[in-house]
Amino acid sequence: MLKLTRSAAAALLTLVAVAAPSLTLAGEVEVLHYWTSGGEAKSVAELKKIMQAKGHTWKDFAVAGGGGDNAATVLKSRVVSGNPPAAAQIKGPAIQEWAAEGVLANLDTVAKAEQWDSLLPKVVADVMKYQGSYVAAPVNVHRVNWVWANPAVLKKAGIAAMPKTWDEFFAAADKIKAAGLIPLAHGGQSWQDLTVFEDVVLGVGGPKFYQEALVKLDAKALTSDTMKKSLETLRKLKTYTDPGAAGRDWNLATAMVMQGKAGFQFMGDWAKGEFLAAGKVPGKDVLCAAAPGSANAFTFNIDSIAMFKLKSADAQKAQADLGAAIMGAEFQEVFNLNKGSIPARLGMKMDKFDDCAKTSSKDFVDTAKTASLVPSLAHGMAVKPAVEGALKDAVSQFWNDDKMTVATAMKNIAAAAATK
Ligand code: BGC
Repeated sequence: MLKLTRSAAAALLTLVAVAAPSLTLAGEVEVLHYWTSGGEAKSVAELKKIMQAKGHTWKDFAVAGGGGDNAATVLKSRVVSGNPPAAAQIKGPAIQEWAAEGVLANLDTVAKAEQWDSLLPKVVADVMKYQGSYVAAPVNVHRVNWVWANPAVLKKAGIAAMPKTWDEFFAAADKIKAAGLIPLAHGGQSWQDLTVFEDVVLGVGGPKFYQEALVKLDAKALTSDTMKKSLETLRKLKTYTDPGAAGRDWNLATAMVMQGKAGFQFMGDWAKGEFLAAGKVPGKDVLCAAAPGSANAFTFNIDSIAMFKLKSADAQKAQADLGAAIMGAEFQEVFNLNKGSIPARLGMKMDKFDDCAKTSSKDFVDTAKTASLVPSLAHGMAVKPAVEGALKDAVSQFWNDDKMTVATAMKNIAAAAATK
């Protein structure tokens, strides 16, 4: 387990320097996370405030890098050196892997006292548990299959409505190009390429195909005509991005939409957190819609905090308090109002949330009933980290190499999916 992908190995070399051991003090809670953009930092600051109000010392361990690849690498080096942080932003199948290593703390005492089982949808609770015990606490539910747009750009280009199909998207993108602007804001990291890829697979193939190909990793689905069409669509999308995308962070791509330099961005609703942090109003300054072809589906991405086994009673108390704070109604509301996501906790009032969040909340419930609620591949929810890393590399190589044929990409993706 915990195999490093090529990109992660490279990142480790540069990041190990910042991962020098430091002692965790009693009552102090050191939290490793990757929430460093404008909207993300505002969100995590709310958790810090709540913990400080409970008398604990918050030791911030932020590792920049969208999608968390850098943070995962740093976390490994801290745990391997026998000095884990009290808590870390870990999610999806990675929680299972860490728990299987025997390094995660059991949170059942606080979970029972605070009745987490009745406060969480099963799909969320399942991800937080290892062998029936809670080892992580969820902070939110992000939806990944969104497209964001600047309404002023759409107006300038003569686009009347958000595109609902890929054909409509390409027609709109042509109009934006003709108006002299960048149709699609995109960044330059492999997780961003994989994010767009999963949107395309969902939109082209539908949720059932998405499950087969990207969750079950079925070889037939991965080499099917639908996958071919998805890759052709992905290749076409690339032609609407600007040459400056290489190395660009996701939030800088979001800023291009905000500033009216670009029309659209495919990104989870943490992008909305950037607009909110800049004082923009969803529905007025930024439009949200399900990515083309995926209005009836929902790719979920649940952020969660897992706790590592620590010896001191004070540290354990701080961890239990952190778990209780995360699941508290106060935190679930204020964090998600800033983060762009919706609360993971059931029964929360949505009246303070914007229309995009209200849509997300309704769709989360509705899609669960029709098997159209699917885990995000690009955001650590669908497959083991090693497989996700291999797929990320394969898709990104295709995205970045205009000469690679769709057939070769399909072969590479199928091989990556078979990673053990
Ligand atoms: C996380 C979000 C985060 C985004 C960009 C996603 O994988 O779930 O919380 O804002 O990456 O870093």
